[in-house]
Amino acid sequence: MDTKKTFYITTPIYYTNNSPHVGHAYASTVADILARYHREIGNDTFFLTGTADHGDKIRRAAEAANMNPQAFTDINSNKFKDLYEKLNISYDDFIRNSDKEKHWPGAQALWRAMERSEDIYWKAYEGLYCVGCEKFITEKDLVDGKCPDHDKVPEIVKEENYFFKLSKYAEKVRALIEKDEIRILPASRKAELLAFIDSGLKDVSFSRPENAILWGIPVPEDEHDQMMYVWCEELSNYISALGYGKKDHNLFDTYWPTDLHVVGKDILRFHAIVWPAMLLSAGLPLPKTILAHGMIISGGKKMSKTIGNVIDPNEYIDLYGADAFRYYLAREISPFEDGDFSEEKFIETYNANLANGLGNLVSRVFKMAQQYFDGEVTRKLSVDVPLQVHRETFTGGEDIEGYSIPYMVENIIIPEYKEKMDTMNIQQAADVVWKLIGILDGYITHYEPFKLIKEDKEKTENILWNLLFGIETVAKLIKPILPETAEKIEEELKQNSKDLFEVGSLEMPLFARIDTNKK
Ligand code: ME8
Ligand code: MG
Repeated sequence: MDTKKTFYITTPIYYTNNSPHVGHAYASTVADILARYHREIGNDTFFLTGTADHGDKIRRAAEAANMNPQAFTDINSNKFKDLYEKLNISYDDFIRNSDKEKHWPGAQALWRAMERSEDIYWKAYEGLYCVGCEKFITEKDLVDGKCPDHDKVPEIVKEENYFFKLSKYAEKVRALIEKDEIRILPASRKAELLAFIDSGLKDVSFSRPENAILWGIPVPEDEHDQMMYVWCEELSNYISALGYGKKDHNLFDTYWPTDLHVVGKDILRFHAIVWPAMLLSAGLPLPKTILAHGMIISGGKKMSKTIGNVIDPNEYIDLYGADAFRYYLAREISPFEDGDFSEEKFIETYNANLANGLGNLVSRVFKMAQQYFDGEVTRKLSVDVPLQVHRETFTGGEDIEGYSIPYMVENIIIPEYKEKMDTMNIQQAADVVWKLIGILDGYITHYEPFKLIKEDKEKTENILWNLLFGIETVAKLIKPILPETAEKIEEELKQNSKDLFEVGSLEMPLFARIDTNKK
């Protein structure tokens, strides 16, 4: 009986050296939209997010704040949870790698599995370590002797530690990416990865001495007092959260391998090369798709605490609501490229597409339905009111002139929307919804129901029925993107039978206009 498709989706686990910014909100919102979409289409969905509390960067930040790392990361990890609550991030589980019960057993079990495959060995090593990146970098990565991402001189590390035989898996991983068995989106990133693998993969240091790290997970059964390298154990959160390496691994059996890892392009190599190699070593199934989204740019630069150009998502959500903020991330930023976040653009697109666009359409149609028909609008099949304006082009080049609204919705809008969502094209899926909104606006302009009501009540009623059908579709389709707004519309719009809509009235506009003169 249980033939439901499962869908397991993850976000990165974010470092807790700081509070979340718009970049973190972006990745989690993208994942949330896709998780909600998959629940809508009936998939048994599991959505995992969380925080990465370990590492020297965080230990030092805690020290600077005069706190122990656990208490310090508790505070910052909770800030992510608070943000998610406000932003309606519908995660099923939240994992922290400092969680000894939930995360450590899985992380250590994976280590043991790699060890059993003889992929872990002991070696003396000297290298340059960037604490900001939490990774070893090479001479050629440096700009003026500094890590370009963190503008800091790396530390020279000379020590003995455990290495992972990444090189052993280079060819295998390359072939899997090439053949899309691990699908990398977008294609441009896939090409970069292949080129990177071709330039040669070296084995990677997978542990550090206890006295250098202090705050992390010990290498299991180890005579050298080493701690697992942060990335090595962070990556395993995706399986430890499901119970891998524990007695109760029901979730792991149900949901692994993941359908989609949502990550930023900054950490794609770890996810697309190191992580699959670790899983291969342990004999575990591999992620199906990895979406490498772009970076949010603010004031011309990648948003980061180090640069000091971070925007606090809470400010926007408090002022304009979660949906307005989600709208901006979904519609104004492509999941495949870098995108700008600016207040000017936020206000402009809010006013044009939420206050006008969506908000205005719903309020006009609801008002007419109330005013002319006391909120009860029946379809009148005796009069024909097909689409007469053709302002939009569709992927298939369809001409919608002469179509009824329900026919167009069924045959063009919904398939096109699904195709976009299924390929993680959230921005274009949102475009499809706003195309529909534009078509409905054009339909009102063409038929002028506000004038026609004086001449032809029957035809006006049918026009309104069609508009309500269109709005009901809009509500359905925006649900993953704007869940609160969809709910508000659906509360006031009930299709009591196939041919009858009952319409209430909105107490307040869905999106109040932002007065730019007052700003
Ligand atoms: O890398 N624009 O954590 P992290 C868009 N702990 N997205 C951004 C962004 C920006 N300016 N800044 C951050 C780590 N992100 C590791 C991950 S996973 C096993 C371990 C988002 O706190 C983006 O998704 O640095 C990026 O990949 C992630 O946050 C990195 O978060
Ligand atoms: Mg980072």
